Amino acid sequence: MKRNIKNNVYWVGKIDWELETFHGDDYSVSNGSSQNAYLIKEEKTVLIDTVWTPHAAEFVDNLASEIDLESIDYIIANHGEVDHSGALPALMARIPNTPIYCTANAVKSLVGQFHHPEWNFKVVKTGDTLDIGNGKQLVFVEMPMLHWPDSMATYMTGDNILFSNDAFGQHFAVEELFNDKADPCLLWAEAMKYYANILNPFSPLVKKKIDEILALNLTIDIIAPSHGAIWREDPLQIVHKYYEWSQAYQTDQITIAYDTMWEGTTKIAHRIADEIARLSPDTRVKVFNIARGDKNDIMTEVFRSKAIAVGSPTVGNSILSSVAGWLEFLHELKFKNKKAAVFGCYGWSGESTKVLRERLTAAGLEVVEPEIKCNWNPDADILAEATRIAEALLR
Ligand code: FEO
Repeated sequence: MKRNIKNNVYWVGKIDWELETFHGDDYSVSNGSSQNAYLIKEEKTVLIDTVWTPHAAEFVDNLASEIDLESIDYIIANHGEVDHSGALPALMARIPNTPIYCTANAVKSLVGQFHHPEWNFKVVKTGDTLDIGNGKQLVFVEMPMLHWPDSMATYMTGDNILFSNDAFGQHFAVEELFNDKADPCLLWAEAMKYYANILNPFSPLVKKKIDEILALNLTIDIIAPSHGAIWREDPLQIVHKYYEWSQAYQTDQITIAYDTMWEGTTKIAHRIADEIARLSPDTRVKVFNIARGDKNDIMTEVFRSKAIAVGSPTVGNSILSSVAGWLEFLHELKFKNKKAAVFGCYGWSGESTKVLRERLTAAGLEVVEPEIKCNWNPDADILAEATRIAEALLR
């Protein structure tokens, strides 16, 4: 099961083709995923991260078939989240005194989750090193809020491998392990989805941390994240892409997202799309029914967009719960520098556009003045107002 990465470094993780969701049901997984763990066999034997709890027994059995578990000198826990630490209890039951190198916050996280304060934790900070023999060292780099307060990366000198944990990962099953073997369209789509839906709120920190890492002038031959493809071919391409994504990323795209009760709001959504396409044929336009689409995929399209339009009919003096939930997620993701417009039908009280406007403003979007608030079903005059929304979003 172990797979060679470079010299004496091996992948010992789990590729999970059946995973459908992550973070509970909050993140849709469309192309499988992996929890990448790594084994280094220099003069010292080092395990970097483990796998998610359901795979713990398989992981420990596989590891024991490759090496004597007692021969593991050090465990590195780059991050305490359970998809990387879930096999620690089963492993530590076999080798209870093995030191675990991690950040101070990771100790809190691991003790809080597994209730083993007696584990032999060794707290590390940025710049701390661990000699692993044969002239090689591990260098630790704290990565707070990328994406948890406890996150860190580990750099291996000599082989020049950055074990970056969640950063630069993708929820993407790559049996061949490496980026140069992966389907490039899926690889980049999954890398962007991961960034948009997990890392975007921390974009200012991403830029700062990348600046800090690049300033170290480290030679990086491989970036080995904890999910998805290992970046072996031109590894810095994903670093440069993160740098671009972290700076209020947008393309010439407008995304329209809505839900409807009796199709009136649907008609407005498509008329806005038509008007954008008519006025600006080069602008990419995408239209999604929030209740029927995948919320993470729609959010990735928002990430690519310079503007969005959001629609809901009025229900119960407010908006549809599907749209409300989606807007809560939008708020969490802290997108910057995007315009928004609102639209929706109503029969009686008509609060939906006001509620949409308030929630989009609170989420940090610049809401343009033109809107469509349509009593009952839209007629030709109402639909003609879509031109003003399209013009405002394109301006
Ligand atoms: Fe892949 Fe934050 O865990």
